[in-house]
Amino acid sequence: MSAPQPVYRFDYQAPAYRVTHTELTFDLAPTATRVKARLHLERHPDREGGLPLELQGERLELKAIALDGQALDSGDYVIDDKGLTIARVPERFVLETEVEIAPSENTALEGLYQSNGIYCTQCEAQGFRRITFYPDRPDVMATFSTTIIGDQQSEPVLLCNGNPVDKGSLEDGRHFATWEDPHPKPCYLFALVAGDLKKVEDHFTTMGGREVTLQLWVEEENLDKTEHAMASLKRAMAWDEQTYGREYDLDLFMIVAVNDFNMGAMENKGLNIFNSAAVLTHPKTATDIAYQRVEGIVAHEYFHNWSGNRVTCRDWFQLSLKEGFTVFRDQCFSADITSAPVKRIQDAAFFRTAQFAEDAGPTAHPIRPDHYIEITNFYTLTIYEKGAEVVRMLHNLVGWEAFRRGSDLYFERFDGQAVTIEDFVDCMAEASGEDLSQFMRWYSQAGTPEIDAHGEYDYTHSEYHLTLRQRTPATPGQPEKQALHIPVRMGLVGTKSGRDLTMTLDGESLGKDGVIHLCEDERTFVFTDVAEAPVPSLLRSFSAPVKLHFPYSREDLAFLLAHDSDGFNRWDAGQRLALLALDDLIAAHRNGVEKVMDTRVIEAFRTLLTTSTDDKAVLAEMLMLPSEAYIAEQQPLVDVDAIHAAREFVRQSLAVALRDEFLAVYENNRSQVAYAPEPEQIAERSLKNVALSYLMAIEDEQGLAYCREQYEADHNMTDVRHALTLLVHSSDEALGASALKRFGEKWAHDPLVMDQWFTIQVTRPQADVIERVKYLMQHPAFSLRNPNRVRALVGAFASHNRVNFHRLDGEGYQLLSDVVIELNRLNPEIAAGLVTPLTRWQRFDETRQALMRAQLERIKAEPLSPNVYEVVAKALA
Ligand code: ARG
Ligand code: ZN
Repeated sequence: MSAPQPVYRFDYQAPAYRVTHTELTFDLAPTATRVKARLHLERHPDREGGLPLELQGERLELKAIALDGQALDSGDYVIDDKGLTIARVPERFVLETEVEIAPSENTALEGLYQSNGIYCTQCEAQGFRRITFYPDRPDVMATFSTTIIGDQQSEPVLLCNGNPVDKGSLEDGRHFATWEDPHPKPCYLFALVAGDLKKVEDHFTTMGGREVTLQLWVEEENLDKTEHAMASLKRAMAWDEQTYGREYDLDLFMIVAVNDFNMGAMENKGLNIFNSAAVLTHPKTATDIAYQRVEGIVAHEYFHNWSGNRVTCRDWFQLSLKEGFTVFRDQCFSADITSAPVKRIQDAAFFRTAQFAEDAGPTAHPIRPDHYIEITNFYTLTIYEKGAEVVRMLHNLVGWEAFRRGSDLYFERFDGQAVTIEDFVDCMAEASGEDLSQFMRWYSQAGTPEIDAHGEYDYTHSEYHLTLRQRTPATPGQPEKQALHIPVRMGLVGTKSGRDLTMTLDGESLGKDGVIHLCEDERTFVFTDVAEAPVPSLLRSFSAPVKLHFPYSREDLAFLLAHDSDGFNRWDAGQRLALLALDDLIAAHRNGVEKVMDTRVIEAFRTLLTTSTDDKAVLAEMLMLPSEAYIAEQQPLVDVDAIHAAREFVRQSLAVALRDEFLAVYENNRSQVAYAPEPEQIAERSLKNVALSYLMAIEDEQGLAYCREQYEADHNMTDVRHALTLLVHSSDEALGASALKRFGEKWAHDPLVMDQWFTIQVTRPQADVIERVKYLMQHPAFSLRNPNRVRALVGAFASHNRVNFHRLDGEGYQLLSDVVIELNRLNPEIAAGLVTPLTRWQRFDETRQALMRAQLERIKAEPLSPNVYEVVAKALA
């Protein structure tokens, strides 16, 4: 089989023909849906005449084709597995086609498919070509008019983008609905939903005084799980008006929840389609984290209405234009309505673990890639999260006011257009007067920049000399890197006063908290009039997506932990202190010597636990140790067993030393008021549950009693799930057995809760879990066809059960590749995502490397989808 070929960014050309208006008719049937398309086409003004018309189309059975009303002969066009080409077409014409497709057989969940009997679509990035022949590219924007014909009984609800304009009954129990979307859009934003759905309805009055109807469509049994998503939507609409001056532009906004969905959600114009996991919540079924995720995703998709839909991407290399900006917007929204420092801590902790690993692996790519084989492989942490970090840096560089002016300019200048990342950055440069040319390198260079920093206090001159040196490691295809513009927010914390000192640099005051700009490979910053020896607090609030190394002593870190005025860096000082202790313990474990706990960590934790604080949310974060994945990120060579053993040792040592303190925290934070997903309540629950984790780490008798009580009280899913996890993950499996069984029986009817039940079991660190994974894959609630189930069971095992996934007999690797091979046939996008842990083989010892590579080779020998092929080929290159 010949290898699939990449597409290159520099090959971009405007389309030869554009579509001004698209008329579609769907006659729905599970295995034989008929799609009629009437495309109003014209030559693109920038392209020469006489070019052939090329339309994309995959898995379509052509039934009829006519140009300007004349049926075409089979000699007039060519169809291959990529699409339809007509060699000669006029300057302006109408093309009519009719195709047949089989939604019920569509397991890839791209294009039109059925989920639990409900017809729905997913067109981004290139799913529309599985619906009809079309110029499936984001720079072709047309108005759409769509008629859906379905069965009155099984599809009482027929939804599409825009406004409903007509409906009626037909013969044989059929009916139809016609929708018009007046906003020109690329076909990736097309959506159709048909099925037996129920709605909840609400309203929002825009700042312009228009009343918008808001509808949330779900299966009947989920009607009681919609309140939070609806409230989140209204908050997001108000926030985007207040913050960005962006008003909604249709009279109707709909969200539909479906069970089978490849990712979180999709911003189709006026008709967002969501993975049910990203929309449904109920205190008894969803955890605080799930509530927060729903809020963020509802906002994210809503914000796309402007950053994505009104102004979209010229080509898919620009994906981060809409995703980076929209993630930044949703992060700010969540920070505004919850706790800003905690949001930043959580986002940065996740980023430093997962995106750094991506940047260090074989699939590393810039946030604007130069080539790809399969675009669905590029919905990555780099495009989304690093893209958002880069927009955040821009925002910090130019300041909020200029950023807002730049954003206004961008939306005004490019409304209704498909544009590039330069267009966006140019607006920011124009609005602020800043030269952002060096900054643009962030978009083209892959890899995580590292800053080596050191500092010295000069007592005689009262100066502090801070030297920063940057380097970005080589990544595939990019051996050499250039210096980036890195904004480093910082303070100098006086060791005597414990306060931020005023910083003076080159005769100018930077204030007590300021930003220095590293634009060279290396630079020494000389701060003058520094009255006392300081400890530098660097990269405050994670001001740039880089790794910063500074030779802090443990005393320095304990000092920052107590005194840093920046909440983020106070947290980070604790993480760094714990990492130093963990390093020693990892070494001790490897060398087979006795592990000794660093008492400075214990004392730091004691202070945290006994000093009163109003910010329980931050405190809870500070009490959490770095995850095994993050610890692994810091090691030159990952030793999964040593990391696990060292981390467990720290947890137990802290629990033994601070047992009474943890107990007190637990007891003081368990008010059982009616559940609400509110910041204060969430903070209390997370603090209480961290404390309980420590108590359970030593199977403390009182802790165990509380844990059981918390489970049995069944107050809300956050507490129940946490208690159940601790019971099931304790060294004595019997402790959790009965609760686990009852939980599984009680929730057998609710797939989203069963996902949690699967995850709890397969993340159990003790041995035998691989057998459990295999057994659970036969469970009636499991299905390889549902992406949520696959992620909850197989994905959670491979990513969050490191000791077992990396078992030295290779069973974990084998299990994952078995699933990848099977899933490659059913759902290539999910299969390609699932391979990720195997692609990180370079980070492990030789034995594991060989085992992992052998599985990658085994996968590569299969007939592969382009998706899996691209990932595996890169991993083995
Ligand atoms: N645009 C969607 C979002 O971020 C995600 C679409 C992802 N598509 C895909 N095939 N993975 O909101
Ligand atoms: Zn998005």
